[in-house]
Amino acid sequence: MKKNILITGASGQLGQFFIDKLVEKNNVISTDINVSPRLIKKYDLKFLDALNEVKVRKFIEKYHIDEIYNFASILSAKAEKNPLKSFQLNTNCFLNVIKASISSSVKKIFWPSSIAVFSKESNLNYVQQDVIMNPTTIYGASKLACEKVINYFNINGLLDIRSIRFPGIVSSSTPGGGTTDYIVEMINNIKSKKKYICPISPNTILPMMHVNDAVDASVKLMSVPRKNININNSYNISSFETTPYEWKNLICQMGYNLEVDFQPDFRQKIADSWPRKIDDEQIRKDLNWKPKFNKIKTLKSVIEDYSLT
Ligand SMILES: NC(=O)c1ccc[n+]([C@@H]2O[C@H](COP(=O)([O-])OP(=O)(O)OC[C@H]3O[C@@H](n4cnc5c(N)ncnc54)[C@H](O)[C@@H]3O)[C@@H](O)[C@H]2O)c1
Repeated sequence: MKKNILITGASGQLGQFFIDKLVEKNNVISTDINVSPRLIKKYDLKFLDALNEVKVRKFIEKYHIDEIYNFASILSAKAEKNPLKSFQLNTNCFLNVIKASISSSVKKIFWPSSIAVFSKESNLNYVQQDVIMNPTTIYGASKLACEKVINYFNINGLLDIRSIRFPGIVSSSTPGGGTTDYIVEMINNIKSKKKYICPISPNTILPMMHVNDAVDASVKLMSVPRKNININNSYNISSFETTPYEWKNLICQMGYNLEVDFQPDFRQKIADSWPRKIDDEQIRKDLNWKPKFNKIKTLKSVIEDYSLT
């Protein structure tokens, strides 16, 4: 039987890829506060402010929602510009979804965390699943706070909340103000033929992942029985690591002309507090999952999506 799935923050970088996958087998109710005519037409997108608990509850009741994917958020770089508002938004949207889901038709919630939960104390060269986490960004703090809430609800059997700590996600859609946005923006600049000003220094290593792998792992995590899940807060996940310098060279090796000026800004400090490599053995084992896209496949796929070939 088809499930009724509510997505909040569906207009963002990840939203449309999740909608495309989830509509294959479910009724998907896509919502956001940013409702462009294009997305209304394409996905029947509806206005829903996830900060409004009463409205979230009304959506759950009206559409008999079985599962929620909560993407409403402000990403790392944007969050630093207005830290308290960002913390409030990231945590309150999630808490509202939780409050509205208790004693409702909702059986499961998916909530994406981020590698921003880690810090220098986490051994950034190779970050294990359970390590010390003292995030130095407000975004990381908001993600870690929500992870603690997830753990509480899961261990007490109050709700079934599933979560993955995404690395930088590579896709053909516009990123929403994160620290890893350069990876998508460089490809975007091939098309516009503009010189790219990269806010991250050339040799900064960060973990990345193709959006299809992120969607596949998330949907798989939502489909397995709870007893298969060994992590009560959020799973580490990763696919490949790269640097701005390597990414630019890969693009040029594929025959594209891309000029890049490296001018690190405040985002460098954020990137320096994030992992260079992630140990994601647990999710691979629990879901019997592995990424399908390596570095080169990811680049080729996104270039193809941009119709550059
Ligand atoms: N994109 C990445 O590389 C990445 C990496 C790690 C984690 N994540 C997480 O994945 C989730 C989705 O990320 P994204 O890249 O699509 O982000 P995005 O910034 O592109 O999209 C977020 C969406 O949330 C919407 N939103 C903001 N406030 C809202 C509110 N009050 N009510 C409803 N919607 C609201 C925005 O309009 C936007 O469309 C976020 O939780 C993010 O932290 C993303």
